Amino acid sequence: MLAVKPPQSPPSSSMFTLRGSLLTLAILTLISFTFLSLKSLRSSPQPQPSSNLVVNTVGKSNEKVEKEELSEVYHSPEIFRLNYEEMEKRFKVYVYPDGDPNTFYQTPRKLTGKYSSEGYFFQNIRESRFRTDDPDQADLFFIPISCHKMRGKGTSYENMTVIVKDYVESLMFKYPYWNRTLGADHFFVTCHDVGVRATEGMPFLVKNSIRVVCSPSYDVGFIPHKDVALPQVLQPFALPAGGNDLQNRTNLGFWAGHRNSKIRVILARVWENDTELDISNNRISRAIGPLVYQKRFYRNKYCICPGGSQVNSARITDSIHYGCIPVILSDYYDLPFNDILDWRKFSVVLRERDVYELKQKLKDISYSEFVWLHMNLVEVQKHFQWNTPPIKYDAFHMVMYELWLRRHVIRY
Ligand SMILES: *[C@@H]1O[C@H](CO)[C@@H](O)[C@H](O)[C@H]1NC(C)=O
Ligand SMILES: *[C@@H]1O[C@H](CO)[C@@H](O)[C@H](O)[C@H]1NC(C)=O
Ligand SMILES: *[C@@H]1O[C@H](CO)[C@@H](O)[C@H](O)[C@H]1NC(C)=O
Ligand SMILES: *[C@@H]1O[C@H](CO)[C@@H](O)[C@H](O)[C@H]1NC(C)=O
Repeated sequence: MLAVKPPQSPPSSSMFTLRGSLLTLAILTLISFTFLSLKSLRSSPQPQPSSNLVVNTVGKSNEKVEKEELSEVYHSPEIFRLNYEEMEKRFKVYVYPDGDPNTFYQTPRKLTGKYSSEGYFFQNIRESRFRTDDPDQADLFFIPISCHKMRGKGTSYENMTVIVKDYVESLMFKYPYWNRTLGADHFFVTCHDVGVRATEGMPFLVKNSIRVVCSPSYDVGFIPHKDVALPQVLQPFALPAGGNDLQNRTNLGFWAGHRNSKIRVILARVWENDTELDISNNRISRAIGPLVYQKRFYRNKYCICPGGSQVNSARITDSIHYGCIPVILSDYYDLPFNDILDWRKFSVVLRERDVYELKQKLKDISYSEFVWLHMNLVEVQKHFQWNTPPIKYDAFHMVMYELWLRRHVIRY
């Protein structure tokens, strides 16, 4: 886990922070066909709102190429842009057709609530250009079993494990694809943390397949280079996105919620009476007024996001949506898309033990740094939103991009 202060100066090159040498290899090939000219690389340590990195590609034949601005929130903007284009053109996924959609298979349970990321993925993959009906064209295979739907039908955790195992085994016996790689080109999607545990009956599903999960931490056996962190997004959002509203962000920091983890208990105990940090030692009751909780996100500079029963929390994407800088206070959380996005440029990542110095750490961030973080935050909002049908660079496409990076497997 990275424990970082907001950056005083940007890394001069963050190529090597990208994981996956395969990606780098693929990109180098691409670059050899393309001249890149990088303009206005930010060199000053002072945040400069106008200093977007402009990637300007000029084809060899001098044809006019679309110019697209990608900001510095990416580790490697030009690699991301080029590889994303490649993904749009070539990436294909085969969705196994087996299983009754009226039980746990194929279709989402719903597109609302805490686990809506799972529902959106199930829906979006069908609406997208990535789906193929020809398994021979497929880079990856999707195992369309929804743990959230099982929960909806009251299935116990033990039974879930059996159902997942039986389903995957049936695919393994019926089709030749699983055995070619022992599941390495197969993936499974769950936002409910019980769903992660439901894969445990099938060791190859844990060890070899790609598990796309909302609770990416070591205690559920998350393997960062193989698995994918799914952002937990509570959609639909109750209020519009924040941005261009700095004058209203007069309060330093905010948190209100259940004290269902050690870090939350400490957070509440240490800061509950503070006059600058707005820390409630309980949830804000709906009886106080409509959307009082959500409106607080508009008035604060920083929104504290401690882990709850799991490392993840929909509060992080709420903060992003409402334009409040998320303060990640959760050890061992492999943050969503952190191999693409540089979280230090739009959030504050602390260690749990920093909770005692929380106020000083936030006050140490200068106003201009805060403005810079906020501006970057508004830029990443699109990556943490689901749409139906999906649109370019949204949460669905970011997850697909992570899968695209993991498509290289050896088949026997
Ligand atoms: C679990 O499975 C058993 C056997 O199929 C069934 O009898 C039982 O009702 C199930 N329990 C739950 C909670 O799903
Ligand atoms: C895949 O391997 C398993 C275990 O070795 C075997 O039982 C199954 O029949 C194989 N599937 C196919 C389609 O050959
Ligand atoms: C700031 O807050 C006021 C009062 O709640 C609101 O009317 C106004 O629209 C807000 N300004 C911005 C830019 O959001
Ligand atoms: C906060 O105030 C309450 C009520 O006055 C008091 O009981 C509690 O001990 C205070 N907490 C801290 C950390 O000072």
